Amino acid sequence: MMEVATGVSLSARNLTRKFGNFTAVDQVNMEIGEGELRAVIGPNGAGKTTLFNLMTGHLRPSSGEVWLGSRLISGKHPHELVHYGVARAFQTTNIFPSMTVHQNVVTALLGVSRGTLRFWGVPSQKIQQTADEVLDLVGIYPHKDRKAGILAHGDQRALDLAIALAPSPKVLMLDEPTAGMSPYETHQTVELLRKIWRELKITILLSEHDMEVVFGLAQNITVLVGGRVLAEGDPASVRSNPEVISAYLGRAED
Ligand SMILES: Nc1ncnc2c1ncn2[C@@H]1O[C@H](COP(=O)(O)OP(=O)(O)OP(=O)(O)O)[C@@H](O)[C@H]1O
Ligand SMILES: [Mg+2]
Repeated sequence: MMEVATGVSLSARNLTRKFGNFTAVDQVNMEIGEGELRAVIGPNGAGKTTLFNLMTGHLRPSSGEVWLGSRLISGKHPHELVHYGVARAFQTTNIFPSMTVHQNVVTALLGVSRGTLRFWGVPSQKIQQTADEVLDLVGIYPHKDRKAGILAHGDQRALDLAIALAPSPKVLMLDEPTAGMSPYETHQTVELLRKIWRELKITILLSEHDMEVVFGLAQNITVLVGGRVLAEGDPASVRSNPEVISAYLGRAED
C-alpha cells in the first residue's frame, strides 16, 4: 500500500529575495496549515515562482525563513528537502524518456530510498507495488509499460506528478500546474489535484495566474502583487476584496 502521508504545515516568515536592487519577494509572511490546499495567485512578475523557489530550496532567501512544521528548512538543498517530505511537481524535466512509465517511478523511489529498498539489485515487491498504486492514482496505470517519451504531454505531466508523489511527500508544491493547457486539460488537472489532496491528505501549495482556476479548488488564496502579500483568505473573501479587484482582477477585465 502507498503510505498515506499526513501533511505538515509550511510557513514563510518575513521572506525576502532580492536580485540586485530589485526585490522580487518582499517580506512575505504565510502560514499554510497541515493538510491545507493553498493557492498563490498574482499577475506576471508578482514573485510566485521566486517564492516557490525559496520554499523548495532552489533559491536562497536574502532574508527571512521557511519552516516545515517545527523544522527550519531555508538554506537547505532541494534534494535534502525531498527527504523531509517536500515535493515539487509539473516540471517534466524529471522524466527519463527512454525508460518505461513504471521504471520512471521505480527509479524515483530508489533514488529517495538511497537503495535501501533494493535487494541484490532488484527493486523490492513493495517498490513495484507502490509504483503501480501511484500510477493508478494519477490515472496513467494503463500506460505503465510504454516509454515515457512517447506519452502525450498531459500524461507526461501526470507521470511527473506520480514521480513526485511516489515517496509519500507531506507537502506538494506546484508552480502553475495548468500553464499552457487547454480548458479541458485544465479542468482534468484541477479534478486530479482535488482527488490527490482528498486521498493523500497532504499539504498542497500551488501557484496560478488565473483565479477562476483555483476558485473551486483552493481552501485559501494568497494574492501576491509586486512581491508582497496584498490579500489572503478564502476564495469568496479574496474575490470580493476591493484591493484585489482594483490591483488584479480589475486589470484582467480590461
Ligand atoms: N534570477 C533573476 N534575476 C533577476 N530578476 C529575476 C530573477 N528571477 C525573477 N526575477 C524577477 O523577479 C520578478 C518576479 O518573477 P517571478 O518569476 O517570481 O514572477 P511570477 O509571479 O512567477 O511571474 P509569472 O506569472 O510570469 O510566472 C520579475 O520581475 C522577474 O523579472
Ligand atoms: Mg512564475
